[in-house]
Amino acid sequence: MREVHLNLDQDSYSITIGQGILGNLGQRIVPKTKSDKVTVVADEFVSERYGDIVLKSLRDFEFDVQVIQVPSGEENKSLAWFSKIHDTLINHHMDRSSTLIALGGGVIGDLSGFVAATFMRGISWIQVPTTLLAQVDASVGGKTAINHPKGKNMMGAFHQPSLVLIDVDTLHSLAERDVGSGLVEIIKHGVIMDEPLFSLIEKNLTKILRLVPEIVIEIIAKSCANKAYVVENDEKERGLRSTLNYGHTFAHALEVLTDYNTFRHGEAVAVGMNCAAQLSVNLGILDPSELNRQNTLLQNAGLPIQIPRIQPENFLEAMYFDKKINHGKLKLILIERLGKVTMRTDIPDNEVLAAIEKCTAN
Ligand SMILES: NC(=O)c1ccc[n+]([C@@H]2O[C@H](COP(=O)([O-])OP(=O)(O)OC[C@H]3O[C@@H](n4cnc5c(N)ncnc54)[C@H](O)[C@@H]3O)[C@@H](O)[C@H]2O)c1
Ligand SMILES: [Zn+2]
Repeated sequence: MREVHLNLDQDSYSITIGQGILGNLGQRIVPKTKSDKVTVVADEFVSERYGDIVLKSLRDFEFDVQVIQVPSGEENKSLAWFSKIHDTLINHHMDRSSTLIALGGGVIGDLSGFVAATFMRGISWIQVPTTLLAQVDASVGGKTAINHPKGKNMMGAFHQPSLVLIDVDTLHSLAERDVGSGLVEIIKHGVIMDEPLFSLIEKNLTKILRLVPEIVIEIIAKSCANKAYVVENDEKERGLRSTLNYGHTFAHALEVLTDYNTFRHGEAVAVGMNCAAQLSVNLGILDPSELNRQNTLLQNAGLPIQIPRIQPENFLEAMYFDKKINHGKLKLILIERLGKVTMRTDIPDNEVLAAIEKCTAN
């Protein structure tokens, strides 16, 4: 078992990562709760599979629990579900001292986190992320949000959880593509700030893909610790935190242009990492052997690295719609070597276009 602490003054919390620890949830949250009233917001699929363990563990510690099941799918990170959950909390007489528990992937984390941030101006919130992506990414940093029909994550808040419990046993029921999609964010942490983590994944890739608990716990812990360092030093994304967007401006364009239904988020990020590293090579700041090393690992993990046939000009235009642009300029995270990033806002469009073209499948 491993623990990662996030030091954010009064919003500090810890992430516990282990195997077979789901049944300890009740015991673990006792010191973190002010009353016995808790509501679990659960992904329907996850609830069917793991709900009983969670409920038993909470009832064993005499919590007064209710469960709200939300159907799986990004479309439910919506104002409609946000409002429905608020209704249920009010009907269940939840108050300022009650606690919300998120059981599921990033959709449930973002949705229930935003409810927790707003219900009675903010109540305590515990995350039990069950996808690799949610475990390594959404569990650190307190970003919560719902989607607007015109765009992803358009309404949201920063609201830190009071505890995160990660049980790697839950990963065994994940679709293979969801394992790969989560792994990309871990590889990304290696590329931007932790070359030894990158090497560890290279050496142990087969075991990781087979979800051998010891190595999976280790890379999740290292990845969360890296993100924790970034968040501790730049909680509201004023500078350092934007380095986590490595590959993401390209990825968001790809997701929009393929209507969010072709690539998992992590798969789009893998493609975006290829584009960002290719651009770094073209600009002469990255050695081509480092680009190769990154792409070989992504491909060995079964991830796509090429843009499907899309007009490069349309791709570039979609990049300009990303909400992370800076006063009309693209803010791009590039790499100088594995483990070292640089942020640039002065890259000419023709250079970006050339990298997009190079990364597009013929
Ligand atoms: N707040 C943040 O910092 C942050 C970071 C990254 C991603 N996100 C958000 O997270 C979402 C993507 O996360 P995701 O990939 O976890 O999506 P998700 O919650 O939709 O989960 C993906 C699929 O896996 C299923 N699932 C979940 N746990 C499972 C398990 N243990 N076994 C089998 N199936 C399981 C779900 O039912 C769903 O079908 C996006 O909305 C993204 O914006 C937020
Ligand atoms: Zn991402």
